[in-house]
Amino acid sequence: MASSMRSLLSDHSRYVESFRLFLENSTEHQCMLEFIEMKLPDIISSIGKGKSAINILSVGGGSGEIDLQILSKVQAKYPGVAINNEVIEPSSEQILSYKECVTKTANLEDIKFTWHKETSAEYESRTKEKKEFKKWDFIHMIQMLYYVKDIRATIQYFHSLLEANTKLLIILVSGTSGWARLWKKYGPRLPLNDLCLYVSSADIKEQLDTIGLKYQVYELPSTMDITDCFITGNKDGEQLLDFLTECCNFSETAPLDLKKEIMEELRKPECSEEKDGRVFFNNNLSAIVIEP
Ligand SMILES: C[S@@+](CC[C@H](N)C(=O)[O-])C[C@H]1O[C@@H](n2cnc3c(N)ncnc32)[C@H](O)[C@@H]1O
Repeated sequence: MASSMRSLLSDHSRYVESFRLFLENSTEHQCMLEFIEMKLPDIISSIGKGKSAINILSVGGGSGEIDLQILSKVQAKYPGVAINNEVIEPSSEQILSYKECVTKTANLEDIKFTWHKETSAEYESRTKEKKEFKKWDFIHMIQMLYYVKDIRATIQYFHSLLEANTKLLIILVSGTSGWARLWKKYGPRLPLNDLCLYVSSADIKEQLDTIGLKYQVYELPSTMDITDCFITGNKDGEQLLDFLTECCNFSETAPLDLKKEIMEELRKPECSEEKDGRVFFNNNLSAIVIEP
């Protein structure tokens, strides 16, 4: 019987719900916050030197929690300097959450927020068409490069928008993570479509070396508790499994042999670690800081 598996991205609200559950069950944001706390101040130490306003571009800013933490570090480094924060984000739901997040946060008076409801590719063609060649002091692309069609061209384009002494920050799953292992082994049998690419930091580093860009890599250790995925009929477990496979209703639509293999793979030490009766998937991330 032909499989009826389809990409999780074809059902936007299920994707957003799975992503929320993933955040609840993983140390994804905690490890990013630690990186922002410990490493970011140094990375951004010269982006605003001598400037009366700092221009920041967030590509795929999502619901804004991480963006606001980044902005607080820029404010701390450059107190009183105006910040112009623009966000490229195609999902109206995410933009709404971002705006709510801004409303609830104090001390954002010096920051001007602008949201562009479009994809990075749409932003590129719109600004090129209008001949708007705006330069930026800091650009970040956090957990979003999976969703662009041409990764190398996207990096090259946004890199070309950097001012001198600035940085482009990319965060995505590490080449040593369970994700990279799972995707390499099972990607071809999962409903990969042109909406999502199974890429890790290993692939990005390869692209950067080919382009010849200078960069530095930081590893961010992180885990995701996937114990519920092994409890038959557990709703949260099923949605987490959807997120892991980027497949809508994986439990019900995957061929039995594939489901069995993936469930076994997820428990292997290359993907997860078992501790106190719980299964922790290796969700390590890499932060790649690219020079102008
Ligand atoms: C996994 S979320 C990450 C959100 C946020 N950066 C974070 O780390 O919490 C990926 C975000 O990228 C957005 N996105 C998807 N495709 C995109 C594209 N082609 N260009 C820009 N953003 C995109 C999604 O709507 C989503 O909000």
